Amino acid sequence: MKNTVSNNAKNTPAEIPAHIAIIMDGNGRWARKRALPRTVGHKAGFNNFVDIVDLCGRIGVSYLTVYAFSTENWKREKSEVNDLIRLMNSGIKEYMPEMQRNNVKLRILGDLLMFDVNSRTMLENSVKTLSGNTGMLLSICLSYGGRQEIIQAVNRLLDEGKREISESDFEGYLYTSGIPDPDLIIRTSGEIRISNFLLWQSAYSEYYFTDVLWPDFNKEELFKAIESFAARKRRFGR
Ligand code: FPP
Repeated sequence: MKNTVSNNAKNTPAEIPAHIAIIMDGNGRWARKRALPRTVGHKAGFNNFVDIVDLCGRIGVSYLTVYAFSTENWKREKSEVNDLIRLMNSGIKEYMPEMQRNNVKLRILGDLLMFDVNSRTMLENSVKTLSGNTGMLLSICLSYGGRQEIIQAVNRLLDEGKREISESDFEGYLYTSGIPDPDLIIRTSGEIRISNFLLWQSAYSEYYFTDVLWPDFNKEELFKAIESFAARKRRFGR
């Protein structure tokens, strides 16, 4: 699905994907290149996340989904996991007024029970506070894994005693229920793999891989990705 942009933002690509999903990779390498601690890289990554969310909202993206913390990320050093959770807590809290001003809605996708009660309450309150907004839907994947998402859907179906379901019924059990599949999936930092991100939903997504590290993925880089997407012919297997 593509939207035609009606705003006058200078140099805005003509066709904007309705749903962009991003694997924000490379914070650690960004920091290492500067001989800085990894936490500084994650902070720079968070600041860039804020800029890209604002930009996507302004150019007419309807859905933006970002991979911020995977089920596998729990296996990182405890100190890094704690740093990331602290950054999530303070960052989202600080960013709330701006999301409110920008009419952004929020969803959190993933196994929230993995987080401590304070983090969970903060996330749930943030979603509630922004629930009346009508602009772009930002979905943040936290403690998210595509396989785990599918398995929890199957377990819920079994609990309900279902014996047979359709693809569209199944989608209603995924974290992304009600969100159209991503049109464009971007991965930064030169890694060419999907790392358990939106496994079901990406069946017909277009991929864009770039060597640029996440904290450096700016407006120009986003527009390059969108232009690459706009130039492709999508046939959805037909
Ligand atoms: C991958 O880079 C990035 C992460 C595991 C964290 C992503 C988090 C942010 C971008 C901050 C935004 C946070 C929220 C809550 C929206 P890496 O650390 O694996 O980098 P490397 O592969 O270069 O080491």
